[in-house]
Amino acid sequence: MKLINTFIYTILRLSPKRIVKIFSKRYVAGFSFKETLDICKNLNNEGFALTLDILGEHTKTKQESAFITNQYKKLLTTINEEKINANISIKPSHIGHDLSIDFFEENLLTLIKKAQELSNFVRIDMESSQLTDDTIYIYKKLSKEYSNFGIVLQSYLFRTYDDIKSLDKSKLNFRLCKGIYKESADIAYQNKQKINESYLAILDYAISNQIYVGIATHDETLLKESYKIIKKHSADRKNFEFQGLYGVPLKKWYKKHFENDYKVRIYVPFGINWYEYSLRRIKENPSIAKYVIKNLFKR
Ligand code: FDA
Repeated sequence: MKLINTFIYTILRLSPKRIVKIFSKRYVAGFSFKETLDICKNLNNEGFALTLDILGEHTKTKQESAFITNQYKKLLTTINEEKINANISIKPSHIGHDLSIDFFEENLLTLIKKAQELSNFVRIDMESSQLTDDTIYIYKKLSKEYSNFGIVLQSYLFRTYDDIKSLDKSKLNFRLCKGIYKESADIAYQNKQKINESYLAILDYAISNQIYVGIATHDETLLKESYKIIKKHSADRKNFEFQGLYGVPLKKWYKKHFENDYKVRIYVPFGINWYEYSLRRIKENPSIAKYVIKNLFKR
């Protein structure tokens, strides 16, 4: 399966962008927020909270990062005006980390303050391991003063269990995911079972310590085990939510979450930089071959 996915992914990477665009539509809600707005309203009406992500990463100039920061500010205003139940998710490298950590901090602070003014929340996505130290450092620094933002932790990194213990339990709000970037065997588990064991150990720590956690996975085994952990600690539903990516099918589980009155948040990406994100999602689709063939014949 992994080989087929890698093979098809390689072919798509070599294909013209317009071919990849055909498949991106499943995972990307729109190219502009205006296009995405109806999807957001429909998802809210179905009971989902949202986190909105303007697609893109690794901006190369200060102007570009300042522009993206401004786009996010406008997005926060529109969320407020349109009464959308959504917060925002931001990649450090999208708002200037590659230029300097200070610039990333400055832009992030602008957004945290804007979100605070509008009673909203900012989630800092976690990128590759090259950014982990800086992301956690800035989180620790700013969380001394602001509480309306959170971080993401990845269970495939060996370091994560120690990281979570180093963070202030009373303030921490994090999303737990497996991790999507290619990391070396020196620092990250490569084996699915180990990644899952790590995921559940971190989740158990969070739930047993009443740390707010976004359980971000589509993996049935993890979802089943998460339910057991929630029950074992009689977790208060105010302290956790489930999270899924737009376009990934999880109907049966969403139904179950809603029946249990558990909060569910969908990560909704949009924007003109849809290419890298779409390829990552296509590669993770276990029915990639069927999916690609079906879409090619649909045209
Ligand atoms: P896994 O990959 O094993 O998938 C489980 C099942 O889900 C598959 O068998 C399939 O049925 C279904 N599925 C998964 N992907 C699919 C796809 N693309 N198309 C169709 N079906 C699919 N990572 C990171 O490094 N930093 C981050 O900040 C985030 N943020 C984030 C937010 C949210 C809300 C989610 C859900 C995920 C992330 N991730 C992330 C991505 C995460 O690290 C991970 O790569 C994906 O969630 C896939 O892992 P799963 O846990 O879903 O398991």
